[in-house]
Amino acid sequence: GTSLKALAEAKGIYFGTALTQGNLSNSALTAVASSQFDMVTPGNEMKWDTTEPSNGTYNFGPGDQILSYAQANGMRVRGHNLVWDSQLPSWVSSLPSNQVQAAMESHITTEVTHYKGKLYAWDVVNEPFNEDGSLKQDAFYKGMGSGYIADALRTAHAADPTAKLYLNDYNIEGTGAKSNGMYSLVQSLKSQGVPIDGVGFESHFILGQVPSTMQANMQRFAALGVNVAVTELDDRIQLPATSANLAQQASDYATVVNDCLAVSGCVGVSQWGVGDADSWIPGAFSGQGAATMYDNNYQPKPAYNAVVTAL
Ligand code: XIL
Repeated sequence: GTSLKALAEAKGIYFGTALTQGNLSNSALTAVASSQFDMVTPGNEMKWDTTEPSNGTYNFGPGDQILSYAQANGMRVRGHNLVWDSQLPSWVSSLPSNQVQAAMESHITTEVTHYKGKLYAWDVVNEPFNEDGSLKQDAFYKGMGSGYIADALRTAHAADPTAKLYLNDYNIEGTGAKSNGMYSLVQSLKSQGVPIDGVGFESHFILGQVPSTMQANMQRFAALGVNVAVTELDDRIQLPATSANLAQQASDYATVVNDCLAVSGCVGVSQWGVGDADSWIPGAFSGQGAATMYDNNYQPKPAYNAVVTAL
């Protein structure tokens, strides 16, 4: 039958999903995941709190399970993520600042080496920006200044020269102060020869609020010589969702897919989760949900049909 991945591949892009370890034992979920998607992002399993819960002690078991599932089903994997101020174990944030660089470099080198040659891409630095376009004053910034981003990219590249290296953030999908911050950073990294291959636009949207500038914004990044990707797409609705809401959601999803297709250098679109039942939205935004293309029983919603038409 119809699949997002076949239609996407015919257009030269991928269509991805996020999977957690717990998702792998849900047969209704995996039936959709393996038939519809050709890219997987581990939802949590490659984050620092899982992979290096204490200094120098590594745990790649959960991430390896996601990778094995993907490989067994002909899906590629986007590694997510190496450096982020969230889901960061407290041993890192409580290090003296002069020890942060060594800890970051060891973490990156060890994790990227473990997965060397097996991943399509890495989100090397996740969500580094404040809303005003300045860098967050997190443990990495305090330890190394703004140069931590270049250092992270160079360290990842040295450990796996074949993985595409991304910076990933939210609220950068349309033009604005935060997007301008990312744009200036990427421009500066490129001019210094720092290995950066792509920018991820998370795209956690609110119903009816896909930015009208998204295509033009992704295009200006692509013009810097990097790939762009929609990395964590969902479109949340105040529950209970009405049929009018679902029609608006279908339009929102089609807009995002069309924006990617219109930008040469947009390599793919990934939804954050498979269906509404496994989506992170209800747990993170009280009273909201129904944010994906599949309902609570893994049946396709209007958004699915709209994406099929767009592809
Ligand atoms: C979310 C996961 O889906 C949740 O299970 C977890 O509790 C919190 O993180 N931006 C990101 C993702 O880059 O890693 C986040 O994933 C969602 C927001």
